[in-house]
Amino acid sequence: WAQDAARNDSGQLTVGGIPVSELQQQYGTPLFVMSEDDFRARARAFSDAFNNAFADICGGVDVYYAGKSFLCTAVVRWVEEEGLRLDTASGGELAVAAKAGIPGADVALHGNNKSDREIHRALDMKLGRIVVDSLGELVRVGDIAQRRGEQAKVMLRLTPGVHAHTHEFIATAHEDQKFGLSMAADTTEQAGLSAAEEAVAAASAHPGIELLGLHCHIGSQIFEPDGFALAAQKLLRFLAAMQEKYSIVLPELDLGGGYGIAYTPVDTPRPASEIAEAMAAVVRSTCAELGIDSPRISIEPGRAIVGSTTFTLYEVGTLKTVRVDAPAADASDAGNNVTYPRRYVSVDGGMSDNARPVLYDADYSAILASRTSAAGPQLSRVVGKHCESGDIVVRDVYLPEDVAAGDLLAVPGTGAYCWALSSNYNYLARPGVVAVRDGSARLIVRGETEEDLLNRDMGV
Ligand code: LLP
Repeated sequence: WAQDAARNDSGQLTVGGIPVSELQQQYGTPLFVMSEDDFRARARAFSDAFNNAFADICGGVDVYYAGKSFLCTAVVRWVEEEGLRLDTASGGELAVAAKAGIPGADVALHGNNKSDREIHRALDMKLGRIVVDSLGELVRVGDIAQRRGEQAKVMLRLTPGVHAHTHEFIATAHEDQKFGLSMAADTTEQAGLSAAEEAVAAASAHPGIELLGLHCHIGSQIFEPDGFALAAQKLLRFLAAMQEKYSIVLPELDLGGGYGIAYTPVDTPRPASEIAEAMAAVVRSTCAELGIDSPRISIEPGRAIVGSTTFTLYEVGTLKTVRVDAPAADASDAGNNVTYPRRYVSVDGGMSDNARPVLYDADYSAILASRTSAAGPQLSRVVGKHCESGDIVVRDVYLPEDVAAGDLLAVPGTGAYCWALSSNYNYLARPGVVAVRDGSARLIVRGETEEDLLNRDMGV
């Protein structure tokens, strides 16, 4: 939950003091309700945690907010005002950055398949860094920049063989994925040579490229610092070896994003300060062991900044209760099924505004937001209105027995990868996003109308 979300005296959920019923009246549902104050506070807190931990190592950390998690021009301005930079992953995201007016020097561009147009756009905007994902792309970026009489500022994305899988990480070579340059030997035509080293050599020799340093990203929704620390250590060792072998200086190291948040009470991510300290300890000791100065460190958090700032407001429609047959929980009772009721609570959105339950089996929670209730709890499944039985918003949640059509539900933790992944499935219009600051609300992204959708139908 956003820090300024709370129930008022009449039991209604409010954000920055504004009751959800007012938001519904003004903007309709479904609606993404975002606390700008909370966003700014989290951006500052995250940035402070890392800057404090790394202050004596490399003078601090550059924090690039990962725009893929949620992006619009308002957010770009908040990010900039709070002293963060911006990470983008496509020409479209660059267009938002440009529209918001953030200096190109504070923007990074990612992507495993950048088009020439995107590369030109990055150069037009004089981006601070283009994160190159493959050797072919490196040559393409270098050649385009050279033809323009420029040098592209490039980071190389490496796969350090540390792959975070949800709450854990697997420290084995995770090469079988589309991103990045492998650090494993023999991943090129030349015996013993890794793709990563081949790219370092090619980048430092290319007249169209200024090689800034190395990058990695080990996964997302990670709770523990170990994976980040191990990746940092591997990249530092490689960086030192490359500096020595090619007599170059690689002044920057980006350790990516992936810092997790709590969606439900079972999620227990470590606080940013703890993760930052653990990473800093490893960077400090590895640099000492290698006898090098630490490169400037940067990170790319998305979810950890925006995820908890937002809840989705839905209106309840249809309800039905079924009886579920399930194996008895008690082993001595094996073979005897128990039955229990499950109530389906349908809301006016669903997988089109939150694809994460369907895509990743993600868990969320929900509360009755428009009022409190003295009624007892009932096991409920919050579902959407799409033509799929998998269209689940919250798999299992206890909601008051008297929840009825017209009630409002709020699902917290929907700031990251919900609006961003939204679709028009079943011709549903994508919801708008409202930002609340200092007790007043404003639309930062307008919801789509039926007309928006029909306008794209050529009618021929
Ligand atoms: N940097 C790079 C290179 C990335 O690929 C990502 C996320 C981030 C930073 C930001 O990661 P974050 O701090 O937000 O975890 N749709 C999925 C998550 C996909 C993440 C893709 N890359 C989900 O909803 O869980």
